[in-house]
Order: sequence, then C-alpha cells, then structure tokens
Amino acid sequence: MKTRIAKLMCEEALQTEEGASVIEEAGEIIRRGGLVAFPTETVYGLGADAVNKAAAKKIYEAKGRPSDNPLIVHIAYISQLAEIAGKISPEMKALSDAFWPGPLTMIVNQREGEPLIPRETTGGLSTVAVRFPSHPIANALIRESGRMIAAPSANLSGRPSPTTGQHVIEDLDGKVDMIIDSGSVDIGLESTIIDLTGDVPMVLRPGYITRDELSKVLGAVELDPAVAGIEGSAPPKAPGMRYRHYAPKAHLTIVEKKSDLVESLQERIINEALTAMEKGLKTAIICADENAHLYEGLENVKVYDIGRFSDDDEIAGNLFSVLRKCDEDGMERIFSESFDTPRLGGAIMNRLLKAAGHDILEI
Ligand code: TXA
Ligand code: MG
Repeated sequence: MKTRIAKLMCEEALQTEEGASVIEEAGEIIRRGGLVAFPTETVYGLGADAVNKAAAKKIYEAKGRPSDNPLIVHIAYISQLAEIAGKISPEMKALSDAFWPGPLTMIVNQREGEPLIPRETTGGLSTVAVRFPSHPIANALIRESGRMIAAPSANLSGRPSPTTGQHVIEDLDGKVDMIIDSGSVDIGLESTIIDLTGDVPMVLRPGYITRDELSKVLGAVELDPAVAGIEGSAPPKAPGMRYRHYAPKAHLTIVEKKSDLVESLQERIINEALTAMEKGLKTAIICADENAHLYEGLENVKVYDIGRFSDDDEIAGNLFSVLRKCDEDGMERIFSESFDTPRLGGAIMNRLLKAAGHDILEI
C-alpha cells in the first residue's frame, strides 16, 4: 500500500487551506474504513472508525497486535461518552470536568441493550476505553470524520510508542493509508487509564495524570496490584499491560542503589558496561543529564542523556525516543539508571521496567 505522508507541523497549520485539506482528506479516509496515523498530546495514534468492524481489524493487522488487546476510542465531544456508556455517571462527569480534553482514558461499561462499540474494537470485552485528546489535530480529525476514532499507539506491536512522526513512518509506512506528521508530541507517555467499572476506581496504567491528582477529584483510587508489582497478584486488568511492550532489541538492565555500599551507582554502571563491552557487545548507558559528566571519556560505550532528573516532563518526553535510538544504533546491551522522580516517576518506571523485562540489578 502507498502511504500518503502529510506534514502538519503546528496548530496554525490547521488554519491554512493546505492544513484544512489534509484534515478533510484524513476524515474521508476514516469514513470509508481506512487507517490514519495522527498525533495526540501523549503519543501518535493509529486511527480507524471505531464502529466499523473491518476497519478495527485492519488496525490489528497493520500493527501485528494480538486481537484480544482492546483499542481506545477517541472522542471530541462529551456527548459521545454518553452515547457509548448510556449515561454520564458522577465520576465520569467529575473526571471529564477536571482532565478532558487531556491524557486520561476512562474504562466504562457500554450502554444497556445493543452496544455501540463492537467487540472487534473492544478486544471482546464488554467495557470500553474512552479518551478525549487535547491535541488540536486529533480533535480536528475526529470532528471532521464525524466518527469516534479507535486508536492504539501507532507503533508496530512490541516497539516503543511513537513520539515523533518519523517514528510512525519507520514502523507503518506502506501499511496504512495516511500518516499525519506533526513532529514531536508534547508528553511522550501514553494516557493514564482509570477503570470506573469496579467498586473503587482503579488506575490500570500510570501516566501523566497521577493517582494523587485523580484522588483529589474522586476520593479513594486504587492502583492495579499487578502494575504496582505486588507478587502473587492477578494479571494486569488492562490486557495490553500483560505484554512485554516497549522492548528495545538490546538486553536492558536497570541499576538501582539500595545499600550504603561505598561503590556509587555510576561506578557500578561503568563497571558493568565495560565488562559487557569487553565481551564484544555494543554497549550503552542511559543516564540523567545531571550525571552525564560522570560517564565522560568511556571508550566504546555510548551514553544516552535522557534529560534532567529535576524535570521529569523532559525524561518522559525522551524515554521512547532514547529506546528507539538504542535500536537504531545497533546496541546489544544497555544499563540504565533509575528515574523514580517524585511526580512522573511511577509512569516512567512502569515503561522502563517493561522495556527491561523487569531486569533490575540492585546494589
Ligand atoms: O495515550 C494513549 O492512550 C494513546 C494515544 C494514541 O491515545 N493510546 C494508547 O493505546 O496508548 P494502546 O492501544 O497502545 O493502549 C491501550 C491500552 C492497552 O493496554 C489496552 O489493553 C487497554 O488500553 N484497554 C483498552 N480497552 C480496555 C478495556 N476495556 N479494559 C481494560 N483495558 C483496556
Ligand atoms: Mg501501545
């Protein structure tokens, strides 16, 4: 398939004639059951008409995604949530007032009677994930299409989520009808997912909106025990959290300092990296900007600066591109510092731990 790649770099571009015609073209593709990759404030999404079964199936094919892993339905009017759920509960109302449009996905029950969103989109579940993105291009596309748009992240299954148009082109050129390239996204981590179908609201995937912020609006909010890393807990409730996601091709180990050994975290990372390099492996270190100078002068070990520990927005924004860069550079062995920062640390480490297949070296 020939993929049409359209550049639409900023909000102003939407106001131009060319920008408007890109959105018209993309909306038309969605209406006739095709696939359009588009930017959101979190990561790029791969969109199709959420109620069109054949279109939803195409998403799974293009990504190589297991068909039991449900898609998120993207909306551009609160009334669309009511159409899906049959009503707006007080919790939905409170959350949408506080966080929509924005990086929050709500899991809700479908309305009684004939469900609106087909099983092809929900991965066979009776519940649906709904999100109202704030990105102006995402909004314009949903409105223009006149549909709700089902969209997972626009990466090949198993690769880090795409945070630039270039990442999407690398993964999906030739597999989808259109890619709207809008450069880098704002946040860089996928939306926070909150499940509203149980007794107590539960975070199924940590993201930019934290559990504390959700609690301020809702009162008690739990974290899925499997995501919290509690041993012996049931599998994660979000099917997608069960897969080994975000995996770079290299073996990645996260090094954490837990003891008062004299050896510093950085000394240990350097020793491990040199040992791997001497074995002939292409070796990398991922570190916070504040520590980058401690790794200077290492020969044949590549150092990736992920951003300032003091600015976790920056680390969140760079995480997936650094993992992709490691692949591009042919890295085989990676040692990473831990980035358990106060606000976004939970979400960042959730992604990094999955990329590492939970390989942690505690010293
Ligand atoms: O920020 C985001 O959420 C991005 C952008 C494109 O909006 N989308 C995204 O989609 O990250 P995806 O497919 O990569 O992740 C969706 C997650 C998966 O873990 C999936 O299993 C979960 O949402 N999910 C979807 N529907 C669900 C449901 N009914 N119950 C539980 N988990 C659900
Ligand atoms: Mg994904």
